[in-house]
Amino acid sequence: MKIGIFADAQECASVASEIIIDLFADDPTSVLGVATGSTPEPTYQMLRQAHQAGRFSLAKGQAFALDEYVGIPSDHPERYRNMLLRNLVENDATGLLDENLHTPDSEHPDPQVAAAEYEAKIAAIGGVSLQILGIGTDGHIGFNEPGTSLTEVTHVDYLMEQTRIDNARFFDHQIDQVPTQCITQGLGTIMSAKRILLLATGKQKAEAVKEICEGSVSAFWPGSILQMHRQATVLLDEDAASHLQLADYYRQRWALQQG
Ligand code: GLP
Repeated sequence: MKIGIFADAQECASVASEIIIDLFADDPTSVLGVATGSTPEPTYQMLRQAHQAGRFSLAKGQAFALDEYVGIPSDHPERYRNMLLRNLVENDATGLLDENLHTPDSEHPDPQVAAAEYEAKIAAIGGVSLQILGIGTDGHIGFNEPGTSLTEVTHVDYLMEQTRIDNARFFDHQIDQVPTQCITQGLGTIMSAKRILLLATGKQKAEAVKEICEGSVSAFWPGSILQMHRQATVLLDEDAASHLQLADYYRQRWALQQG
């Protein structure tokens, strides 16, 4: 794992967006794995600015979402497909075409079939080039909650109470409005991405960050599986990094790696 620690969320987003811009400069047909939640939003904003400035385009690329709620109305603003359309597609945000934004089909009559089809679609395209990730306060990535198999593929799952509490802020603070079921790429699917870029900002993520970076690899903290990935980069603000035992070393090493 490469661990970068920065002053604030804006600086993390700046580093993340430049990594993504470089990837698409090298290969405009790359496949971007896109996360939802609030953490990646500043990165998406910087990608939109880079697109406006003519430095970046997803016009020849593809994007695959990590997950989607099951049972959410198709026009609900918090449906992950709608969040990603707003951030990456609408008004020529990044050049990404609607048909090249792939999300699990949460309206399929059989979500298990939709999950299997989504896994097959990722495999058919040759996998994700770079997967953006956020992290839940319980250590989940995608919607892989504690106890999920470390090698699982895309599947139907259920949200933990803590995740529904955390996400209630997107649903008028009404936990009952937060769906209970989801389709998520599994940890095995996420691990098959060629590169991983995890972003975490804010004090509320400090414990999960400590556990996934410095704790044991364990299904109890699902993001800890990233310790087994050869090309995983973790970008943190000072608050999210505040529980790390080896923070000073990570800072020094990051500076040397960039030099
Ligand atoms: C959701 C998403 C995750 C996301 C996490 C953290 O549950 N399924 O992909 O990483 O929440 O969200 P936030 O970035 O808003 O803290």
